[in-house]
Amino acid sequence: MATGIEVAVLPVAGMGTRMLPATKAVPKEMLPILDRPLIQYAIDEALEAGIREVVLVTARGKDSIEDHLDTAPELERTLEIRGRARELESVRATRLPPGSVVSIRQQEPLGLGHAVWCARHVVGRRPFAVLLPDDLVAGSPGCLLQMVEAWRETGGNLVAVEEVPPERTGSYGIMSPGASRGRLTEVLGLVEKPRPEEAPSRLAVIGRYILQPEVMDVLGQHRRGAGGEIQLTDAMAELIGRQPFHGFAFTGTRHDCGSVLGTTIATLALALERPDLAPAVRAWAAEHLP
Ligand code: UTP
Repeated sequence: MATGIEVAVLPVAGMGTRMLPATKAVPKEMLPILDRPLIQYAIDEALEAGIREVVLVTARGKDSIEDHLDTAPELERTLEIRGRARELESVRATRLPPGSVVSIRQQEPLGLGHAVWCARHVVGRRPFAVLLPDDLVAGSPGCLLQMVEAWRETGGNLVAVEEVPPERTGSYGIMSPGASRGRLTEVLGLVEKPRPEEAPSRLAVIGRYILQPEVMDVLGQHRRGAGGEIQLTDAMAELIGRQPFHGFAFTGTRHDCGSVLGTTIATLALALERPDLAPAVRAWAAEHLP
């Protein structure tokens, strides 16, 4: 029986074109949702799920992500001298244990599958998690912890899925569903970005995965798929039938924080969960929204 997942790959090498010009000089993962950058939500979710090693797959111009996860001695000292205990605590909470972050450059944006493959030497022959930070999944327990608990029963490969409207299938990897048991559905096939009339279902894979190391062998063949990119979906599809493969209907709300609309809704939704912000946001909404 499977135990736990130690290592998580966080691909953050994408160009973030949907968020331009905000992402011209700032990585999309460093854009804030309330008072935390997007990357922090994914890191906290990973740590909650028991992850001990984080592999960032980054690109040029993304150094601020690493800086955010490092110590900031001058800042911490200044906050300490000024007696800003709350702020100091919030800064210290972003620091990870020594040696737990590895950073790898994806030299060219050849696709999500290629980004994951860049982490192969660190992952080794272990099962691993992948979190796409621009999918912010709100809820407690976090999506990855829910998945790790389900995966202890299923083993193999497990991907988080949710239903999307028919006209949105072309933006996702879509699964062909088999038998269901509770929140688990057997995956019979996976297709990247199908047109609505060709989609095998409306069950879309979102940015949370638990994968077996064999997917790295498939990715190593560097086959191009939809959009000319090396697609993770295509590599995962090759494991179906060889290894257990399930879709997992998580509890929580996913926000697409790679888009302006998604970040706007995420900001509002998370503000309404915060006791220090919710009353003022509600009051503003009561006055300005019909
Ligand atoms: P997206 O499809 O959101 O692409 O990538 P993107 O470049 O980040 O954003 P847009 O579409 O141009 O606005 C999904 C995930 O895969 C990573 C991204 O960083 C994101 O976490 N990715 C994608 C890479 O790391 N490398 C790639 O070559 C492509």
